[in-house]
Amino acid sequence: MKRFKVILMGAGSRGRNYTDIMAHYSDRFEVVGVADPVKERREYIREKHNISPDKCFERWEEMLSIPKFADIAIIATLDQDHVGPAVKAAELGYDMLLEKPIAPTAEDCAKIKKAADANGVKAVVCHVLRYTPMYSGLKKLLDDGVIGEIMSVDHIEAVGNTHQAHSFVRGNWRTTKETSCMLLQKSCHDLDLIQWLTGKECTRIQSFGSLTHFTKENAPDGAPDRCTDNCPYNEECYYSAYKHYYNEGATIGSKRAVTKMPEPTDEQILKALAEGPYGRCVYKCDNDVVDHQTVNMEFADSMTVTFSMNAFNEGGRRTRIMGTKGEINAYENQAHIYSFADRKTTTVQLAPEGLGETIESGHGGGDGGIVNALYDYLAGIRKATEVSELDISFKNHLLVFAAEESRKNGTVVDMKEFTENLLK
Ligand SMILES: NC(=O)c1ccc[n+]([C@@H]2O[C@H](COP(=O)([O-])OP(=O)(O)OC[C@H]3O[C@@H](n4cnc5c(N)ncnc54)[C@H](O)[C@@H]3O)[C@@H](O)[C@H]2O)c1
Repeated sequence: MKRFKVILMGAGSRGRNYTDIMAHYSDRFEVVGVADPVKERREYIREKHNISPDKCFERWEEMLSIPKFADIAIIATLDQDHVGPAVKAAELGYDMLLEKPIAPTAEDCAKIKKAADANGVKAVVCHVLRYTPMYSGLKKLLDDGVIGEIMSVDHIEAVGNTHQAHSFVRGNWRTTKETSCMLLQKSCHDLDLIQWLTGKECTRIQSFGSLTHFTKENAPDGAPDRCTDNCPYNEECYYSAYKHYYNEGATIGSKRAVTKMPEPTDEQILKALAEGPYGRCVYKCDNDVVDHQTVNMEFADSMTVTFSMNAFNEGGRRTRIMGTKGEINAYENQAHIYSFADRKTTTVQLAPEGLGETIESGHGGGDGGIVNALYDYLAGIRKATEVSELDISFKNHLLVFAAEESRKNGTVVDMKEFTENLLK
């Protein structure tokens, strides 16, 4: 069995996750290099994979300044820091596992695609949802023609109010300037899913949406700038930083995100909340990404699609796909299939119970799924069309950029014209 050597750029939450999974499949992968400015994160990876100290770097720039010493580069730095390492890694001849989004702008996405094409490297973009038992099961039902020809899709991405507050109000993905628009960060997965599930291309697109709730105008009277400044609303506020990061019930993942420590102490958490971004009042942050948005699309063969992404819910995705023979309502790992023939609904369990307890369970099994798909693709077991390969992902990213153009300008965007203009 082929064993691929891997280097990791960005040993944060995603990088750690993928390499932990690779350690589980040590017959297929060997992690041999790491770059991250945060010592604790770098050290975790070094120790876990027994990496030689001369292959541990503070920055990707240093790691990619030496000759190629592995097969695969994982790029798991933050969004705005994908284009640099991806272009350089492609030039050095590394195949890539590239975190989504490819890059925050259409121009940078095109740069990465050009570099990969020019150097003949393969790249898989981390559209992890495709690899979940839930969505791969749904895809199979559609491909088997269970509901006939698809006429229409309604897809909802419910971000969840606490996830919105953590990532898109206080956290890393709160401003378009520092990262990218919400639709790109959160929903490039969904637009990827819709095109992949239906096997059709989008022809026209339109979008509406704004940041409406998480704004200064909605701060309760007299609330200080930080929850840690004796905010009188800590008890009742849904978004109190103590509830999310400190009190009983706060997850280890959220504590790690706030402190950047693998095993944070209470003292470290309280310090991070008092000084860092996650202790801020959610109504007094510098966020500018939308908290609700809709996208309306026309696809080939007059198929219509609506997509809605918003913060004001518990979280979770729901997909309703309507065809000429019936419809499928898919959510929470199940597909409910209504057949026009007998007017009955049957339920199919798409993902096994207990999936949430395994090493590969991140993103509903998608994190483990994509690592396996990467292996199969690079080992020649799966074709490019069977994975979320860079070319395919690039096309899906263009839907996001076109939707944003529509949202800002109040227009309907023709995808053919939009793509031609961009690639001119
Ligand atoms: N596929 C998905 O579903 C999914 C989910 C969450 C995040 N993401 C994406 O994954 C990427 C990483 O997100 P994350 O949550 O792991 O963020 P993170 O902040 O936990 O990790 C990013 C890491 O990059 C490191 N870094 C910064 N500058 C560096 C440099 N010059 N060289 C090397 N490392 C450097 C940081 O220190 C940090 O440890 C982002 O692009 C994000 O949008 C994807």
